[in-house]
Amino acid sequence: MFENKIEKILTKHWSEIDPLKIRDYLAVGGYSALKKFIKKSNREKILEEIKFSKLSGRGGAGFPTGMKWEMVMSQEKKEKYFICNLDESEPGVYKDRTLAENNPHLLLEGIIVSALVVGAKKSYIYLNGNYEKANNILAQAIKQAQENGFLGEKILDSDYSLQLEIFSGAGAYICGEETALINSIEGNRGEPKLRPPYPAESGLLGMPTVVNNAETIANIPWIVLNGGKRYANCSTKLFILGGAVKKRGVFEASIKTTIKEAIENLGGGILDGKDFWFAQVGGASGRLFLKEELNVPVSGSGAVLVVDKNANIYDLLLSWAGFFRRESCGKCVPCREGTFRLNEIAQRLRDGEISDRDKIAVEDILWTLENTTFCPLGKFAATAWRDAVEKLKIFSK
Ligand SMILES: Cc1cc2nc3c(=O)[nH]c(=O)nc-3n(C[C@H](O)[C@H](O)[C@H](O)COP(=O)(O)O)c2cc1C
Ligand code: SF4
Repeated sequence: MFENKIEKILTKHWSEIDPLKIRDYLAVGGYSALKKFIKKSNREKILEEIKFSKLSGRGGAGFPTGMKWEMVMSQEKKEKYFICNLDESEPGVYKDRTLAENNPHLLLEGIIVSALVVGAKKSYIYLNGNYEKANNILAQAIKQAQENGFLGEKILDSDYSLQLEIFSGAGAYICGEETALINSIEGNRGEPKLRPPYPAESGLLGMPTVVNNAETIANIPWIVLNGGKRYANCSTKLFILGGAVKKRGVFEASIKTTIKEAIENLGGGILDGKDFWFAQVGGASGRLFLKEELNVPVSGSGAVLVVDKNANIYDLLLSWAGFFRRESCGKCVPCREGTFRLNEIAQRLRDGEISDRDKIAVEDILWTLENTTFCPLGKFAATAWRDAVEKLKIFSK
């Protein structure tokens, strides 16, 4: 039987600790990374370790974390912000919520150390408004961290201070995009801004801002304690297995895990009596992989949805199109109109009323979404449809 032989970094204490009790986290060595940082007070050294670690963003784009922090640290402006992105509004993706619900103090410790290293005095957790349980757990954890001197004024009697606030979003998918997220915290409409300037240069209230994904941040305490070089050799990641597999849920495994290994080893293989058709990797915006394409590492948000041959592809196409039509923020015409029209065609396709004109229109709409939209959400709307047309040959049936 397969053994997931890794040193767990993110999920290690999930079964041992009560997330509502800071003493449980302290009992397993919690807040040691913060204590180490406060004692040595060497921000440049920690930055160097993060760069050695080759930690890359777990929010989907995989941007090197050390490089992002360095950009903010090199800015002369005194006011800086640190934001933990816990919007996670993509269907089938729930790793950050699971992380926050199971070990909130690991996330808080990561946020505190990261914010202090980049030079922020104010930080936010941008939390999906539908995540009520995570909200309650995180609010309680913040209170406990303050009571224990890990957060607030003069942290552990040092000269460092940090405020941390939960900002509850409305669960809009676009608000996970960092510039839309910043607009939302500022009280503006949740829609993306033109980049550059990037948030590292001009983010929240025009100040240098780091936006990092919750899972990215949860790795920081381990790197501070164990060193970046070690991390580079044993990086892990959270994977979310769903659909026609024997075991569904969130699993921690090597970052190099391939789609095939994720399905067979983490998910326990395909359900008995089911025949594998394809896997969608990365949530509703993810590509589709056929049987012969599974020997590549899982990319993006780490979600793997296994679809078997009994699935109704027309229902799936409609659910993807409907999601992006609802979530298009409406700022640019190609996405606002494109997602609307794709959804209309998806309805006709499901009802067996598709015309040759519709088939030609799909090609036009996909091209427009892929090439002309203001932000990546438009491209995301086309990804699974493109693969359904080209790999699953939905129009040749
Ligand atoms: C439409 C859209 C939705 C996104 N949603 C999320 C999200 O829910 N969580 C997240 O961490 N990043 C999300 N991102 C990526 C963020 O813009 C940003 O790259 C990320 O938070 C940076 O953190 P990282 O470098 O630690 O990954 C989204 C991007 C786009 C274009
Ligand atoms: S691509 Fe879609 S989500 Fe992005 S700005 Fe345009 S309308 Fe808004």
